[in-house]
Amino acid sequence: MISGNIFLVGPMGAGKSTVGRQLAKVLKRSFYDSDREIEKRTGVSISWIFEMEGEQGFREREKKVIAELTCLKNIVLATGGGAILADENRRALRAQGHVVYLAASEEQLLKRTSKDKNRPLLQTEDPKKKIIELLEKRDPLYQNVADVVLRTGEQSIQHTVSMVIKQLEELGK
Ligand code: S3P
Repeated sequence: MISGNIFLVGPMGAGKSTVGRQLAKVLKRSFYDSDREIEKRTGVSISWIFEMEGEQGFREREKKVIAELTCLKNIVLATGGGAILADENRRALRAQGHVVYLAASEEQLLKRTSKDKNRPLLQTEDPKKKIIELLEKRDPLYQNVADVVLRTGEQSIQHTVSMVIKQLEELGK
């Protein structure tokens, strides 16, 4: 039995939303995705928010949503890849649940994000370079906030979900 919230952190393309949704289903919990929540509240896409308000504006919205969602009980939450940048977000995540870092190789991340147009930070000439830069800066923050680190590769979603459950159960022992 895993008690408390489960928060997924990690870079864009690590599979936080897909794994989170499936994990919530298996554990019979409610699933939230901080990006989708921001889109629901504003009625516009993440790309549109970046365009209108810049990254700074997006981060402010992200902080509000993370503060609210982390107060819920027994949920699974997939956070945006940059949510861990703000100290207050890291504190809320750590204090209110178990944090799982879904890590993946640069190649995997590039492959999984290459067709997506709703990730403004990767709409650059050289997305691979950007992924590497972001990882260098953020990996220590993901590590720092995480109770469990799980490297995802070619394995199925089901397998990753089982691994997350197994690792979280180990934590509780
Ligand atoms: C971002 C990741 C995105 C989204 C926004 C910024 C980031 O979420 O929040 O585009 O800074 O890494 P995903 O990790 O769900 O793609």
